[in-house]
Amino acid sequence: MATILEARDVCQYFGGLKAVEKVNMKIEEGDIFGVIGPNGAGKTTFFNICSGIFKPTAGEIIFRGEPITGLLTEKIARKGMARTFQNIQLFKYMTVLENVKIGFHIRTRTTMLSALLRSKRYSEDEKFATEKAAEILERVGLSEFRDTLASNLPYGIQRKVEIARALALDPKILLLDEPAAGMNPSETQELSDFVKKLNAGGLTIVVIEHDMKFVMNTCNRILVLNFGQKICEGTPDVVRDDRNVNEAYFGKGLVVGEGYNNA
Ligand SMILES: Nc1ncnc2c1ncn2[C@@H]1O[C@H](COP(=O)(O)OP(=O)(O)OP(=O)(O)O)[C@@H](O)[C@H]1O
Ligand SMILES: [Mg+2]
Repeated sequence: MATILEARDVCQYFGGLKAVEKVNMKIEEGDIFGVIGPNGAGKTTFFNICSGIFKPTAGEIIFRGEPITGLLTEKIARKGMARTFQNIQLFKYMTVLENVKIGFHIRTRTTMLSALLRSKRYSEDEKFATEKAAEILERVGLSEFRDTLASNLPYGIQRKVEIARALALDPKILLLDEPAAGMNPSETQELSDFVKKLNAGGLTIVVIEHDMKFVMNTCNRILVLNFGQKICEGTPDVVRDDRNVNEAYFGKGLVVGEGYNNA
């Protein structure tokens, strides 16, 4: 398997705060790769570097064999990286279908002018986006919410809409920042099955999550950050038994392996 996303000695400093400190990571095509660590460990910052929101203080990000460090987010998205956000970023007063259609804009050629003039290209792109968005909603089981305003949906469903919109980019890799937050245990289990299904369809997935049962049951490899540094990387079994990881979590009153393999 080829490496799809690599971080080399990546650092992100905010003034004197070392939010991410010399992190190295290799994600192989086909992985479901977990990123875990206590609050403030640097997980979201690391995602922000990978997806181009932050230009790192030092280090390099390689995506599909090409350095992408410091490129604009949109350019990185076009190269095949999509993500969701820890704080849901949907357009609240748009319907679910409209939110997903936005994900297509990066793939279509419509300019503002052709949209205003309602040109032929605009109509074609609109039709394409509507059909494809409907297809994605079907695929992720959200068709019944197609015409519902995003703000009227429960939190768990909003998270799925964000994933649907990211899928509209037709990415090679999908970064999910705490997708199970706000979900109940059965929704979380459903999400795990869904992530595995997307992965089986050829998508590499990177997921930040606090829910240990989800992480241990869904990911094949896990990176553990603590105070910005990598303290462990390996299979779920290796991570669960690692002393540093357990200390980092015990310090915060958490237990890494707790109930992770219960049904
Ligand atoms: N834009 C920023 N400016 C200054 N400090 C920041 C910025 N973004 C993050 N930080 C700080 O960097 C550290 C890492 O934050 P980050 O959000 O990456 O943690 P996290 O692992 O995602 O935590 P959580 O599990 O709570 O989401 C924190 O101390 C945070 O306050
Ligand atoms: Mg975070």
